[in-house]
Amino acid sequence: MSEPLRVAVLVSGSGTNLQSLLDAAASGDLGSARVVGVISNRPGAGALLRAERAGVPALVLDHKSFADRAAFDAALREGVTSLGADLVVLAGFMRVLTPVFLDAFAGRVINIHPSLLPSFPGVDAQGQAFAHGVKVTGCTVHFVDAGLDSGPIISQSAVPVRDDDDAETLRARILVEEHRLLREVVRDLAEGRLRREGRRVLRRP
Ligand code: GRF
Repeated sequence: MSEPLRVAVLVSGSGTNLQSLLDAAASGDLGSARVVGVISNRPGAGALLRAERAGVPALVLDHKSFADRAAFDAALREGVTSLGADLVVLAGFMRVLTPVFLDAFAGRVINIHPSLLPSFPGVDAQGQAFAHGVKVTGCTVHFVDAGLDSGPIISQSAVPVRDDDDAETLRARILVEEHRLLREVVRDLAEGRLRREGRRVLRRP
């Protein structure tokens, strides 16, 4: 068994992507990856209850209690470092990270985004896609850089938009696929299946 890949998960909301990773680790479906800690920028995030139920250490860094973005990112960097994380997963995390944080974890921060980037970056990607009238949307896992949902794409999954969809039914269908895609990428990273060639990320079968 390879050394466990120590994963810190950053959250802001309900934490269904976190729950998916916790469940996969518990059922042996995440390779050698283990969630070693959860950090939320919102004290009331439902994800914190999920971490508690799973017995995973959780830390709240309320971004509103920091003087500026750099101070928050410095505290976040210390929090992740204290967990001894090898990989940082942004799972419904709603803050843009600066080099103050990113430079300490170069190439080891990934994000799950609910659209086929580069289409529909930013907030409410599902609603943007629905309003635009696309016939196919989906989700993307990418490495995080200092831009907005702009880092090298690791993996994507397409989700059809149905004529009888509304924004909520579409959001729910994408979310199921997000859970599957994020589990697959974390497992691939734990098993050393991914390598980068410039902006391209290649997967060894
Ligand atoms: C997900 O669609 C995620 O992509 C977006 O927020 C939604 C909720 O995520 N950023 P979670 O349930 O908190 O994991």
